Amino acid sequence: MRLSVRLNCFLTCGVALVSLSLALFQAQVQRHGLRRELGRRAQVVAESLERSTAPLLLAGAADRLQNVVDRFVNHQHLAAAAVYDTAGKELVVTPGAQPLLAAAFGSAAPKPRPGDETSRFFSFGRRSICVVTLPVAEDTMPLGVAAVFHDASYIDAQQASFWRRALAGVLAQTVLIVCLTLLILRWSLRRPLARLTGWLSELRRGKTSAEPDLPEEAAFQPLKREAARLANTLSAARAAAVEEARLRDAAESRWTEERLRIFIQTRVAARRLFVISNREPYEHVHRGNAIECSVPASGLVTALEPILRASDGTWIAQASGHADRETVDRDDHVRVPPEHPQYTLRRIWLAPEEEQGFYFGFANEGLWPLCHIAHTRPIFRAQDWEQYRVVNRRFAEALLDEIEQEEHPVVLVQDYHFALLPRMIKEQRPDARVAIFWHIPWPNPEAFGICPWQAELLDGLLGADLIGFHVQAHCNNFLETVDRTFEARIDRDRFAVKRRGHFTFVRPFPISVLFSEDSAEAGSFENLYIERAGLLRALGVEAPMLGVGVDRVDYTKGILERFRALETFFEKYPIYRGQFTFVQIGAPSRTHIRTYQNLMEEVTLEAERINRRFREGSWKPLVFLPKHHSHSEILPYYRCADLCMVTSLHDGMNLVAKEYIASRADGQGMLILSRFTGASHELTDALQVNPYDIEGMADAIHRALEMSPEERAARMARMRTYVREHNIYRWAATLIAELAAIRLAPGESEPALIREPAVAARS
Ligand code: G6P
Repeated sequence: MRLSVRLNCFLTCGVALVSLSLALFQAQVQRHGLRRELGRRAQVVAESLERSTAPLLLAGAADRLQNVVDRFVNHQHLAAAAVYDTAGKELVVTPGAQPLLAAAFGSAAPKPRPGDETSRFFSFGRRSICVVTLPVAEDTMPLGVAAVFHDASYIDAQQASFWRRALAGVLAQTVLIVCLTLLILRWSLRRPLARLTGWLSELRRGKTSAEPDLPEEAAFQPLKREAARLANTLSAARAAAVEEARLRDAAESRWTEERLRIFIQTRVAARRLFVISNREPYEHVHRGNAIECSVPASGLVTALEPILRASDGTWIAQASGHADRETVDRDDHVRVPPEHPQYTLRRIWLAPEEEQGFYFGFANEGLWPLCHIAHTRPIFRAQDWEQYRVVNRRFAEALLDEIEQEEHPVVLVQDYHFALLPRMIKEQRPDARVAIFWHIPWPNPEAFGICPWQAELLDGLLGADLIGFHVQAHCNNFLETVDRTFEARIDRDRFAVKRRGHFTFVRPFPISVLFSEDSAEAGSFENLYIERAGLLRALGVEAPMLGVGVDRVDYTKGILERFRALETFFEKYPIYRGQFTFVQIGAPSRTHIRTYQNLMEEVTLEAERINRRFREGSWKPLVFLPKHHSHSEILPYYRCADLCMVTSLHDGMNLVAKEYIASRADGQGMLILSRFTGASHELTDALQVNPYDIEGMADAIHRALEMSPEERAARMARMRTYVREHNIYRWAATLIAELAAIRLAPGESEPALIREPAVAARS
């Protein structure tokens, strides 16, 4: 049966049933009332008859009774009246009433018993009769019985008429309610359903990915949410399928999220993955009365999330959002990503003194400048070192707690914040497979040797089965540092260290970015020109050419050197004044540290000074934007900029360089890249510069702007091919493959017994 027919039947029956029950109730009440009224009237008549007949019966004047009884015949609805003596003998009766009496009393004529009046209804033929009998007495002496009969048929007639009206009412009500309900349903459901159908059909044909246009009522919200998720999943699946098809077609072996997922599931099998980092991938913050979830700006999240999603793993990190506490459960767990939970985030809360000593102090005033060698002195305080150890221990305990029930867990420790963790974990859980990835450079042994706790740091790191750096040079520096510090066996062929019977492999894994193939990103030349002018106009500047720099305001990034190079450029090539503007996006970073506060001030003053020197009318050479920008806010600058400058004094990798390349789907733009970044080993088609050579950088800016379109396009195409093929998924796959292939062999004494880690993922 069709839905609408079923709905109609259901509604009709329902409404009719309710209306009929109501009418039945009213009929009962009416019938009861009419009968009660008739009974009351009959009682009055019977009493009157009793009063009239009593003196005659007492006087024995039975002959006068007939006259008295006959007078009652005219009462409304009276059908008959009769008087009996005390023996039940009929004394007098209204004419023609015999059959009625016989039907009422049969052979048992009424006998007088004081106070024994009765009233009842009975059927006589097709009529309904009400009979009231009343003892006739003088004082207490019984004289006989008076009986009056009323015709109650008029009650049935009234009931019949009531039912006729009631049924017509029920019918009208049912029709009206059913029609109205169907109209409302049609209005409120049919139209949204029609719109949803249209939307689904567009979705199926790949013509939309927006949300369906459904009413705002709460009842539609779950449907709306599910529909939006469906659209997202479908478009992701479609994109993955297109990508896979394209790869198959091109016979390439490019890494995608899907390929990584399958790879991890086969390599890591049933084992679960655990990640530890200082920065958390999602933080919760208060926004008005609501709690919002945001992703902190970090390449780390992009890199590690696919791994955790693929294995439903656990990420342990420091809580940083002011609403973080309100979103975790009793075990400090929260499932993420919020819109489609796939793994667990465990948050660790640090006391202010712990954060000060561990994060600001030892990690960022000690290890950060120590490893970067950017001419900022490392500061080593004993109390910072103490907090660094305490916090490493706290994270280790949290991890040990998480892996308690896991057999052979796989643990990926991130960065210089946790050098002591690998040893702490392996001491308790030798069956765990532990890797640490060092996201910053590793300096030469002399430089590292100034750290008072270098032996403890190295010992902590060598607890790991695998240590990853961005480039081979950092691996070499690390092995040299170990060699100069301990009695350890270094296997230079295999890049492994043997210490206390345990082997640690040291490998380069150049980290990367997502690379979207979306050709819609490629705007036309004219559109880019207009977009670029619009971007600059929004910043209050008129210029046809744009350069961009995107950095945390950190002394390792060479921002001041870059500004001075721009100044030299405008001095040497004045024709570019009024033509070219450089926008520096600078995210404030580690602002509790004095060096960073000073740097922010210095960068601001330097930008102002250069602007004062060159600005003309609505043009200025430099725009400094000292605030955090989301990836989507940065993207238009990348897409429009004629050049991007990365001039770090020293950098592990630098993902800005790769992000700029990945966002140039139009094949335009040029990258100026410091040769002291890890990225410079891979992006050899960038214009490579020494950030300490200000003249050289000014010339590089000039060269980038003057380069022929053909050369620029050819360089960009080669760099894009490289980044496309060495994307973030490949980085993750290579790291996991190496770690999964290491044989944990606690008893073995010879490195020859340990299998060479697989390098399949590097293909
Ligand atoms: C570097 C480090 C990361 C760190 C990032 C931002 O890239 O290698 O571990 O997360 O800087 O610094 P922050 O101190 O804000 O986390």
